[in-house]
Amino acid sequence: MSIRRHPISRSAEQSPLRTIPVDHALIARLKSSYQLLSSDRFEFASVFYSKLFAEAPHLRSMFSTSIDVQTTKLVAALDAIVSNLEYPEKNAKLLKEMGQRHAGYGVKPEHYDLVIDLICDAIREVGGERLPASHLAEWRVALRLVSDQMIAAASS
Ligand code: HEM
Repeated sequence: MSIRRHPISRSAEQSPLRTIPVDHALIARLKSSYQLLSSDRFEFASVFYSKLFAEAPHLRSMFSTSIDVQTTKLVAALDAIVSNLEYPEKNAKLLKEMGQRHAGYGVKPEHYDLVIDLICDAIREVGGERLPASHLAEWRVALRLVSDQMIAAASS
C-alpha cells in the first residue's frame, strides 16, 4: 500500500513530509460524507451548539454573537475547509488565523476535545443512517487535525 498524507496534516506547512502525496481517496470520502449533510448542515450546527451549552453551560458567556449567526459562521468555515481539502496550504492559513482568533476569545486547548466529541455527536444525530460509522471516524480524525492546527497557532 502506498503512503499518503492526510489533507489536514500540519506537515503541509513546511516539513519534508510535504513531498508525500495527499490522500485523494480520503478527500473524496470526506467530501461525499459532508455532501450527505447538505442543507441539513445548518441543523447540524445548531444541534452542536445546543449540545455544547447543555454540556458546558459555563462556556456560553464566551459567545457574544447570536447562535443563529454563529451557526452560519461554523457552516461557512466547514464549507471552506472541505472545499480546500485539495489545497492543504490554504487550510493551513485559514486554520492559523482561526486558531489565533480563538485564543483571543479565551478558548483553551483543553476545550477542543469536548467540541470534537459534540460535533461528531451532532453529525451522527443529523446524518443518521446516511453516514457510515467509518466515515464518522474519519471526520473525528479530520476535526482533531483541524483543532491541532488551531491550537498550535494560538501559541505561535
Ligand atoms: C473544530 C474546532 C472549531 C471550529 C471549526 C470553530 C469555528 C468557529 C468559527 C467559524 C467562528 C466564527 C468566528 C471566527 O472565525 O473566528 C467561531 C467563533 C467562536 N468559537 Fe469556535 N470553532 C472551533 C472550536 C472552538 C472551541 C474549542 C471553542 C471553545 C469553547 C470555541 C469557541 C468559540 C467562541 C467563543 C467564538 C466567538 C463567538 C462570538 O464571536 O461571539 N470554538 N468558531
